[in-house]
Amino acid sequence: MKPNALQLSASIRPLLQNHHKVAARATCFTRTTSGKPIAFASQQTLQSRSHHDWCSPQTACYLLDRSKYQQNNNTLVGSPREQLKLYTRHNVQQHRQYNSGQAPRGARLLLDNAATKGMAFTEEERMDLNILGLLPPAHRTQDVQVKAALNFVNNIGDNLTKYIYLRNLKDYNERMFYKTLAENVEALMPIVYTPVVGLACQKFSHTYLRPRGLYVTINDLGRVKKVIANWPHDSVHATVVTDGERILGLGDLGANGIGISIGKLSLYTALAGIPPHTVLPVCLDVGTNNKSLLEDPFYIGLRHERVDGDKYFQLLDEFMEAVVERFGRSCLIQFEDFANSKAFHILEKYRGRYCTFNDDIQGTASVCVSGLMSAARLASSHIKDHTFLFFGAGEANLGSATLLVETLIDDGLTKEEAMDKIWMMDADGLVVEGRDTSNWNGHKKAMIRKGPMMNNFHEILDLVKPTALIGASAATGAFTDAVLKKMTTFAERPIIFALSNPNSKAECTAAQAYEHTRGRCIFASGSPFEPVEFQGKTYTTGQGNNAYIFPGIALAVMAAQAPIIPDKTFIVASKALSDQVLDSELEAGLVYPRISRIREVTLHVASNVMNYFYSEGLTNYHFEPKDKLNFLRDIQYDYNYDKSPRQSN
Ligand code: NAI
Repeated sequence: MKPNALQLSASIRPLLQNHHKVAARATCFTRTTSGKPIAFASQQTLQSRSHHDWCSPQTACYLLDRSKYQQNNNTLVGSPREQLKLYTRHNVQQHRQYNSGQAPRGARLLLDNAATKGMAFTEEERMDLNILGLLPPAHRTQDVQVKAALNFVNNIGDNLTKYIYLRNLKDYNERMFYKTLAENVEALMPIVYTPVVGLACQKFSHTYLRPRGLYVTINDLGRVKKVIANWPHDSVHATVVTDGERILGLGDLGANGIGISIGKLSLYTALAGIPPHTVLPVCLDVGTNNKSLLEDPFYIGLRHERVDGDKYFQLLDEFMEAVVERFGRSCLIQFEDFANSKAFHILEKYRGRYCTFNDDIQGTASVCVSGLMSAARLASSHIKDHTFLFFGAGEANLGSATLLVETLIDDGLTKEEAMDKIWMMDADGLVVEGRDTSNWNGHKKAMIRKGPMMNNFHEILDLVKPTALIGASAATGAFTDAVLKKMTTFAERPIIFALSNPNSKAECTAAQAYEHTRGRCIFASGSPFEPVEFQGKTYTTGQGNNAYIFPGIALAVMAAQAPIIPDKTFIVASKALSDQVLDSELEAGLVYPRISRIREVTLHVASNVMNYFYSEGLTNYHFEPKDKLNFLRDIQYDYNYDKSPRQSN
């Protein structure tokens, strides 16, 4: 039975001092269950409450905006009402938990990964919480715990073991995991994310021990809502979903692909401070065409070939609707590692109706365009001054070229002028009129321009005379020494991006790029290369890593409750990222900020994108924080034990 509003208010009062979070939420509950607001908490109460909760400050501020209520006869309308209903459900759970003394204690506390502090519990706490004797006698501060984790990771040679250790750490003690990751991003991001997450996905079935994330399978057609209803947390604000068909450069990994959703969402928290209980990793399992997985006795997914066509899209439709129905229309749905043949179609189908983006297309494009902006700055020019040749016209480069057109238009060029600066080529030659386009998607067709049908790379270079060459073709070594030398005849500082992953697929290495352009090129790669020594100078190369973009966009979407994510969002993010590159970094040859600064950079990306959402009215909140950077800082998840309350979500 739901407690009525007044009972709840009274019973919640003693919790006000220690659990402002519960109090604030309970206040919302009081108002919504009564059908109209009963009483407003004072602004002061809401402002003084701790900021460890997600979004409630905004919800509360919305509630406090009396004019809005008066306009609407004191009745909540539109999406905030929808939001409040969601918070309400969570409030009731929390209220019941605290009021019934269900806050974890004893052994249960140590098994609760959001609440435990492990050996950091003091003797007093161990006594008080009935866990004395359940932990080794030594006390470790959180800093020592982080050092212990790093000590293990640094002393184990095998990358998969490092990954598994960190994954287990997350399952055991979330705050310790996120502190370790967030404060050692440079060392640990390559393990929880690319490249090691690729290996982890390949081995996922063989290392599987416990459930993480949600599997929605083709057998769930007609009952997807039931599956989504089983997720234990109500306050989900973002999900990363993959169907596992094109995991990184590794192809179809079927249900093993859920590792990529888990990895991406770890960065939502570690880089953007998005609370872990508000995100949901999802795998859509429609089967796999990977023969070795189908024959693997330990494979965790459906053991049949991929289901395609109408049934596939029915499942996707049902999934989208079920997510929105349970978590609200502002729940972000990030698409990840879908096959090229489907990715553009899916994006077009859902982008205007749902809060969604595709990181492989739009995130990659945003990083690439940002790198081009910074490279132009380094070459003492403007992005409008360049001629671009995209080598490869697949998912990655098509997304980048499309966004570049929009960026140039945003900078004042006409569509024709923008298109005139961009050429694309694929394995069969220049993307020009007259080519057989029967298998081309709309994005590729949109990049067709007038020009001769040519397929010889050198002849194409002579025709186009690009000042920027962007490779995303997986054609190893295609940027030969002759190609690189030729680029120096078109520009004093030619821009060379070899974005194909992994390094073994790159169009050229960093060393080749600097050597054959005599140190004149501005280089960026998809995977990291070691710094290069050339003629007494050290060149540090920038890595076009999507992690610079997607966590910041997600944070902004969630903080503003943006209903949709227009293309312009990615231009705003590109500019914000480029603005974050320091002059000293540019001088060292970097077109992206150093990874060690990525968390601060992410906040700036997020606050710029949030500004854009508010300026365009793309928000479900009436309340607009003046200082968005500080606002975002305030609402970020805090993994420090001494600052965050003990809680179980
Ligand atoms: P895709 O398969 O969709 O496209 C590859 C394109 O390259 C096709 O247009 C193909 O015709 C063209 N191509 C292949 N050989 C060529 C050659 N010799 N000359 C000219 N064109 C050639 O692949 P997708 O998804 O676009 O990825 C391509 C590469 O980019 C992959 O290695 C991927 O790992 C990498 N990538 C890098 C990202 C980053 O942020 N650094 C993000 C996404 C992809």
